[in-house]
Amino acid sequence: MSALLELSGITKTFGGVAALRAVDFSLAAGEIHGLVGENGAGKSTLMKIIAGVHAEYQGEMRLDGHSVTFASPRDARARGIGMVHQELSVVPDLSVAENVHLGAQPVHRFGMIDWRGMRRSAAAHLANLGIDVDPRTRMGSLPLGLQQLVEVARVLFSGARLIILDEPTSALAPPEVERLFGLLRRLRDAGKSIVFISHFLDDVLAICDRVTVFRNGQAVATEACAQVDKRWVIDRMIGTGHEELEESYLAAIQLHSQSDAKLVLQVQGLTRAGAYRDVSLCVRSGEVLGIYGFLGSGQLELARALFGVLPADLGQIMVDGRVVRLSSTTRARRAGMAFLPESRRLMLFGTEPVFKNATIAILDRVDRLWLRPSIERGIAGGHVRQLRIRPPDVGRALGTLSGGNQQKVALAKWLTHLPRVLVLSEPTRGMDVGAKDDVVKIVRGLREQGIAIVVVSTEPETVLSLADRILVMKKGSVVREFADEPVSKDRLLEVA
Ligand SMILES: Nc1ncnc2c1ncn2[C@@H]1O[C@H](COP(=O)(O)OP(=O)(O)O)[C@@H](O)[C@H]1O
Ligand SMILES: [Mg+2]
Repeated sequence: MSALLELSGITKTFGGVAALRAVDFSLAAGEIHGLVGENGAGKSTLMKIIAGVHAEYQGEMRLDGHSVTFASPRDARARGIGMVHQELSVVPDLSVAENVHLGAQPVHRFGMIDWRGMRRSAAAHLANLGIDVDPRTRMGSLPLGLQQLVEVARVLFSGARLIILDEPTSALAPPEVERLFGLLRRLRDAGKSIVFISHFLDDVLAICDRVTVFRNGQAVATEACAQVDKRWVIDRMIGTGHEELEESYLAAIQLHSQSDAKLVLQVQGLTRAGAYRDVSLCVRSGEVLGIYGFLGSGQLELARALFGVLPADLGQIMVDGRVVRLSSTTRARRAGMAFLPESRRLMLFGTEPVFKNATIAILDRVDRLWLRPSIERGIAGGHVRQLRIRPPDVGRALGTLSGGNQQKVALAKWLTHLPRVLVLSEPTRGMDVGAKDDVVKIVRGLREQGIAIVVVSTEPETVLSLADRILVMKKGSVVREFADEPVSKDRLLEVA
């Protein structure tokens, strides 16, 4: 295999912070090359350099043996490099044919768009790739998986011989993933080069020829997939350096479940098409159940079902032994459910003062007239002290607080009238160590008061630091339960 693309000594900083440090990377003609690494390791940044999105960096890029620089994605496209970004960039209101031709519609002699020619060439192109979809269909009406395939088709149609796919499978159902992989194999056999970024290590090892592992801004290892296994990849992703040990929970923690406490939440056979299926679980009073899985494993949607935001299609939910129908958030709240979504912006009002945000949850329980600002301030003031919210000023606009402190305010909402069940989605994402620690303490405090708590996260550290028992979800199903046993980050990654 000869190198189509070679990068050497690539360093990239954002505002003085290094996202990539002296990275070497090479891609052969006709190979599928996997990129893996934890969130923030630098995978997307390196690929955006190759695709001309980031023009400012140090180091050298060689294409076909010649040094190249791209000032824009258009430059990269002109040299046959195309990228399908983590966020889809299809236009939902246009037809499939228009999306395939995006930016390069065929025109008649007088500059009019040749609609019929466009449909015909799109149909031929899609059929050639084995993608069975009518080019007249409105893009937005297709399932996500097909939209993704059409986007791949668009990149190829633009003449790409090097295709970068940034986490293309995180939102796909298994049959769609199989279809995508079939397409990738055919493209490879036709001599195209493909970079495939994914958290699903089994998939990477199954479909790629080589794999490169990123850790903390560096490419730490590249090997032929046939030579390595999942264990090898995980060890390199996490690192075994001394200073990383504590941070990454390499050492196992011991789980202790509360087997004699009262059952508060019972879920049976919960299913939502395209998100998760046949999920059963229970949580006892004073217990924290952690649900871990990669992005796209269905756990974030499951959390939404428990608060009636995104109701399930099938299955049963019981709270304190009574069947509840969580068809709306109002019903969920009445049933004793509370929810903290991963995006705080959904729940909080940045321009409103801290005290208003902290008391939102009780507004429908007490008479609005009774709840005067002075009383609200009093209630919120107590929480601010208890939760060590900084600065300790309830009159301050919430948006001026750091992310970690906003999260604490979001938690404070549920402290005045305790819920029966509290569902937390990504409760410590993006927080500094101190704020994380505070959130862990708050959650433990709520557990002491007998609340049943569910923590869903895509970060192993989050469930390891909070949970008494852990479920692992993979592609919509619960694949493993960890209870009363030692569990570590690498064990979680291994089964996910
Ligand atoms: N446009 C940007 N501005 C500032 N920082 C960025 C930008 N893009 C990425 N980063 C930072 O660079 C690092 C690597 O990010 P990224 O390449 O997206 O990682 P990965 O794709 O492996 O999850 C992270 O710390 C991220 O916060
Ligand atoms: Mg990325």
